[in-house]
Amino acid sequence: MAVLRPNQPAPGTRLIALAEIPAPGAKAFTFGAGKERFECFVVHWLGGAIGYVNECPHARTTLDWSPDKFFNLRKDALQCGTHGALFVPESGHCFLGPCKGKSLIRFPVRLDADGWVVVAEDTPAT
Ligand code: FES
Repeated sequence: MAVLRPNQPAPGTRLIALAEIPAPGAKAFTFGAGKERFECFVVHWLGGAIGYVNECPHARTTLDWSPDKFFNLRKDALQCGTHGALFVPESGHCFLGPCKGKSLIRFPVRLDADGWVVVAEDTPAT
């Protein structure tokens, strides 16, 4: 596996049982500390898990507007807490806001047989 960032967890790392994340909802994870820390989040959406790097394509801030709050009030889109950009939960594509047309960076996850969200083998290109 090509490691994209320092402190990025290895494939096979168990993150959380999907049932522990509200649906729809999301949970943030931080690995490491300081400038080298790796931040990601897992979205519980339509019965599955989707992972993203917790970094808005606009100003590179984290998205959550309070701990683990990634969804807008209607719970139909991910929303950046800094300037309000909206993203399609299943694709990470920004459809409204200052980074319209750009996308969140996918962080590959999968569900194991016990319903846990696990870091997947394949990694995004960059
Ligand atoms: S940093 Fe996310 S919309 Fe500006």
